Amino acid sequence: MNKLSLRDLQVHGKRVLVRVDFNVPTEEREGRIEITDDTRIRESLPTINYLREHGAKTILMAHFGRPKGKVVDKYSLRPVADHLHTIINHPVIFSHRTIGEDAEKIIAHMNEGDVALLENVRFQAEEEANDAHFAQALARLGDVYVNDAFGAAHRAHASTAGVTRFVSQSAMGFLMEKELKYLSGELETPAKPFVVIMGGSKVSDKISVIKALMQRADTILIGGAMANTFWKAQGIPVGASKVEEDKLDLARELLELARKVGVKFLVPIDAVEAEEFKAGARKRNTAEGAGITDGWLALDAGPATIALYEKEIAGAKTILWNGPLGVFEIPDFATGTFAIAQALAKANATTIIGGGDSVTAVKQAGLADKMTFISTGGGASLELIEGKELPGVAALSDT
Ligand code: 3PG
Repeated sequence: MNKLSLRDLQVHGKRVLVRVDFNVPTEEREGRIEITDDTRIRESLPTINYLREHGAKTILMAHFGRPKGKVVDKYSLRPVADHLHTIINHPVIFSHRTIGEDAEKIIAHMNEGDVALLENVRFQAEEEANDAHFAQALARLGDVYVNDAFGAAHRAHASTAGVTRFVSQSAMGFLMEKELKYLSGELETPAKPFVVIMGGSKVSDKISVIKALMQRADTILIGGAMANTFWKAQGIPVGASKVEEDKLDLARELLELARKVGVKFLVPIDAVEAEEFKAGARKRNTAEGAGITDGWLALDAGPATIALYEKEIAGAKTILWNGPLGVFEIPDFATGTFAIAQALAKANATTIIGGGDSVTAVKQAGLADKMTFISTGGGASLELIEGKELPGVAALSDT
């Protein structure tokens, strides 16, 4: 990686402005906002702890939700500051203002080893507009800049990209480095066979990533609702299942491309079909190759597909998984997704979970610690795998 790392910076006594991705899922319980999954916060601890141990003044900035440039109470980062306080066991100074005199005053009183968190950068429209004045105002709060917000690195915003123009040095944090190592480094020259499992609901979200992976993968296994589009494109009945009608040609094009480049491209051979999209609905396994009954819905991978995919996974040396194989939020239709998680856990391979719903599935299956790497990014991980340059990385200082 030709970018500066946090390890390259002199941070002792310095104000280090750190962009983190604290966009975590929350729930309101008895009038209080509670964090339901703090993985992204915990994953930024190596960077925060390193800075504290090296006598830096750590100023964290982050976005939370999509408040669209307005102050929206439920998107305040205050509860995140409290949560961080409990996990680092050190007070986290919260600045109600993101920039300006108040924020500057708070920072001026910080001691070495202290940590502060600024209010949601997206409370100001200038953040997403990547406004130069706003970026400059953020830059005034630190001496050097560190980007550890991998999940937001595909956004060219003031706090992820613009700010770097106004600081002397900007570097990758440890989480950023780790994400780039696995999703870029390892996947560029993967140990072979390299098997990719692509699931989820829409082919349209994954076209470019599937095309890019065709150049590197030996096998691509398709699952989830997007498999319906491939079925329909091949004339297999899909009943009342969700299909992207306007992507049928594209699905045919991808199947053709796979043939041309010699990638093994597998779509499901059977399914679990249900009468309704709900828990407890009447369901049954379809016959191999038969497709879906009129009026019924494909909601999970069938046993023959699971067995076929398990075999491919067992022989792999590198596995990338993105997107569930069925409606795993409903336990009746979670078998396929959890079977894939189990197969990955058992595989003698580097296993990379590329963000989004498959991360939730792996955690629900209790198998997170059995995977080599789980990304904290959603859109960012897909863009990186696709080979795109992430603005939040491109903007950092070169080595
Ligand atoms: C995410 O949750 O994927 C990142 O934090 C980016 O959020 P965004 O899609 O609202 O920019």
